[in-house]
Amino acid sequence: MNSIAVSLLVFSSLLLFRPICSINSEKERTLAMIKPDGLLGNYTDDIKKIIIGSGFNIVRELTVQLDEENVTLFYAEHSAKGFFPNLIRYMTSGPVLAMVLEKRNAISDWRALIGPTDAKQAKISHPNSIRAMCGSSSERNCVHGSDSQQSAAREISFFFGDIPPETLKHDEL
Ligand SMILES: *[C@@H]1O[C@H](CO)[C@@H](O)[C@H](O)[C@H]1NC(C)=O
Ligand SMILES: *[C@@H]1O[C@H](CO)[C@@H](O)[C@H](O)[C@H]1NC(C)=O
Repeated sequence: MNSIAVSLLVFSSLLLFRPICSINSEKERTLAMIKPDGLLGNYTDDIKKIIIGSGFNIVRELTVQLDEENVTLFYAEHSAKGFFPNLIRYMTSGPVLAMVLEKRNAISDWRALIGPTDAKQAKISHPNSIRAMCGSSSERNCVHGSDSQQSAAREISFFFGDIPPETLKHDEL
């Protein structure tokens, strides 16, 4: 291969790989929710301090009282489970605060901050997690975080509809 062919090859593979690199450095969004026990226990300010201190941008937020229909829709994948009536009672027992959080790796970083689903377990294994701070059981675990990009998209649109991408701060990439 002559040198022109080699440089063409290098150039075109750079072009090919560029989109992959920019996807990896792009900001991601997740849905965070402070559940009724978190709000009623006055943990909102502490949780928001942790969110900001961990480098998340809060793109949107909304305090809303959910009804049974909302909870059934939001937790559709759990609707056949035995704990569902309790889940509805808990999630409608007071307002929730839904937030769209944005940063690189927002989904996994937020889930790492909130800790294990079972808040009782979190107090032992992840004493610095948010659930260890404000939760009390596997059901009453005070906060929610999307578990995948697909869930994040669905859950964000559940609360906020379509949010234009221009609220992404490209200068911070
Ligand atoms: C939360 O704050 C409100 C208003 O300051 C207060 O009335 C309430 O008792 C507090 N709740 C808890 C669980 O500390
Ligand atoms: C909850 O359901 C009511 C109808 O029962 C609807 O008007 C409202 O928009 C829903 N809220 C959310 C956040 O989906």
